[in-house]
Amino acid sequence: MNAATEQQGQQGLGETRVFNPPAAFTANAAVSGMEAYNALVAEAERDYEGFWARLARENVDWQTPFTRTLNEDNAPFYKWFEDGKLNVSYNCLDRNLTNGNADKTAIIFEADDGTVTNVTYKELHAKVCKFANGLKSLGIKKGDRVVIYMSMSVEGVAAMQACARIGATHSVVFGGFSAKSLQERIIDAGAVAVITADEQSRGGKQLPLKAIVDEALAMGGCDTIKNVVVYKRTGGNIAFTEGRDIWLSDLVDNQAAECEPEWVEAEHPLFILYTSGSTGTPKGVQHATGGYLLWAALTMKWSFDIKPSDVYWCTADIGWVTGHTYIAYGPTAVGATQVIFEGVPTFPHAGRFWETVQKHKVTIFYTAPTAIRSLIKASDADEKVHPKSFDLSSLRLLGTVGEPINPEAWMWYYRNVGREACPIVDTFWQTETGGHMITPLPGATPMVPGSCTLPLPGIMAAIVDESGADVPNGQGGILVVKRPWPSMIRTIWNNPDRFKAGYFPEELGGKYYLAGDGAIRNKDTGYFTITGRIDDVLNVSGHRMGTMEIESALVANPLVAEAAVVGKPDDTTGESICAFVVLKQARPTGEDAKRIAAELRTWVGKEIGPIAKPKEIRFGDNLPKTRSGKIMRRLLRVLAKGESITQDVSTLENPAILEQLKETA
Ligand code: WTA
Repeated sequence: MNAATEQQGQQGLGETRVFNPPAAFTANAAVSGMEAYNALVAEAERDYEGFWARLARENVDWQTPFTRTLNEDNAPFYKWFEDGKLNVSYNCLDRNLTNGNADKTAIIFEADDGTVTNVTYKELHAKVCKFANGLKSLGIKKGDRVVIYMSMSVEGVAAMQACARIGATHSVVFGGFSAKSLQERIIDAGAVAVITADEQSRGGKQLPLKAIVDEALAMGGCDTIKNVVVYKRTGGNIAFTEGRDIWLSDLVDNQAAECEPEWVEAEHPLFILYTSGSTGTPKGVQHATGGYLLWAALTMKWSFDIKPSDVYWCTADIGWVTGHTYIAYGPTAVGATQVIFEGVPTFPHAGRFWETVQKHKVTIFYTAPTAIRSLIKASDADEKVHPKSFDLSSLRLLGTVGEPINPEAWMWYYRNVGREACPIVDTFWQTETGGHMITPLPGATPMVPGSCTLPLPGIMAAIVDESGADVPNGQGGILVVKRPWPSMIRTIWNNPDRFKAGYFPEELGGKYYLAGDGAIRNKDTGYFTITGRIDDVLNVSGHRMGTMEIESALVANPLVAEAAVVGKPDDTTGESICAFVVLKQARPTGEDAKRIAAELRTWVGKEIGPIAKPKEIRFGDNLPKTRSGKIMRRLLRVLAKGESITQDVSTLENPAILEQLKETA
């Protein structure tokens, strides 16, 4: 378990304040009151497959209805609704042309500079069809992989939907990843095309995208790539490779605004999304079509209580899973109006979120605890950017995602953004789970700051010990899910063995899905509190980072002999990255150390992306190791926190180096 989340989790455990959903909210909620919640839970327990079959029929339009709900024959390679056929883009767009939503605004696009573009469902449908026809004209077909390396834009969402429409499997790579990270993902996915923009506009700056794609492709190994489609966002100067590169407008302008959807099997891979695990290489989490869509639509109703009149805003990036399920697919599947924001929370001022809520009369707002914590700081320093300086009366529901929220930040959000009138859904889930797993239901669950409360109906979450046995409430353990659920990860792309061993470990009996988080349930309420990762995965500003990945990047530098990376609690980002480094040359000190540390930070930025740059680097002649040569990360975590070591260090080979590692370069 890593230190920051452990600490935050524990803060949550002592929490006794309870906040009930407002009565008026409950009265109109999709799941109204705890009795309604309990009835759904009971239905799932009584007839697990029947429960999911009913929901899949009610929430998804099937071109060929399924007759088999769940196939467990080849567990843990579960199949859901396998003989059904459908198309995700049909469900998200065409459905909205015939149900009265055609002229409804699907997307309110708020650009970095404040320019607003509204797109109706009819317009989005036409855009996606043209895009899909354009992709087809390049020879892209069902089963091909397409990498999307895009800014936050209507075109980014359209690119995903267009792939879904023709049965191509997309893999979105976050625009903050480096050329090297992009290249690795292109190769692993075997992608035939990259969709990108010339540049992205964030915080008043123009940042390159196409240039990074060029760099990635020039690194070699990407021979599967035939085309690069470029959306002109800023008009910045970019290089063009004849025959390979094509402007999006040239690709789509003369295409028909209709495109027959490719009807795919429910298990057809909708997307691959790379995420960090506890080894040096990221894993391609592969999701299926039918079960994923069901979950995206259903959780929009259950957790967000989405109504036709809502203006919904999720501040995530399409490069992360939250931007997949709760921007590209969930909101459109339920015909919602949503804000899509190109910029950053602090530009042109740290009240941008609140100003945007006021401007578009946002009713549901979903963001990350890190953003909340940084905006608390900013509004403490400057009243003008405090939420109280804006009219936020349109808000009726708030949400958080990606990391634990500490009770103080929860309270601030509740009081200052929600005016003590909005429920907060603290949604626990993962790239692998496809959508929300444990979360309050806004019209039902009494909320406790810092707790994600109870599993959604049908989600058999539990806490077990290292042998897979249940632990009693009040006793911490390992979070598992005991039964498969529709939107679960299907496999790791190109690596089914890693999927099986990593997520369904034999030690726990081989049947439970292992989330990778520790958790504890409250003795009285049974509420879950997540206590942090149990593997070597850090959560920095809600971004998942593998310590091994950062270590591999560091040791790839010619100066570095050895490196160990640990997380350190951070007031704003939850955790921050602290790297302990041994150089091939003598341990540097003073200005030398500062210069090399800066060089290594830039290096990691190039190897992985700026989000992986260590905040601190400390140099030693060696790392603390046991006599058998194992690095003692426990000690490094204590050192990172600046605490003194009280543990027994008698097994340590080289106790003297602990002194050296106290100092940050
Ligand atoms: C953490 C993001 C506490 C957790 C959707 C998980 C959370 C990892 C919460 C997944 C929450 C996510 N409370 N911790 N509400 N939500 N996490 O794959 O450690 O980027 O395993 O998915 O984030 O991160 P991922």
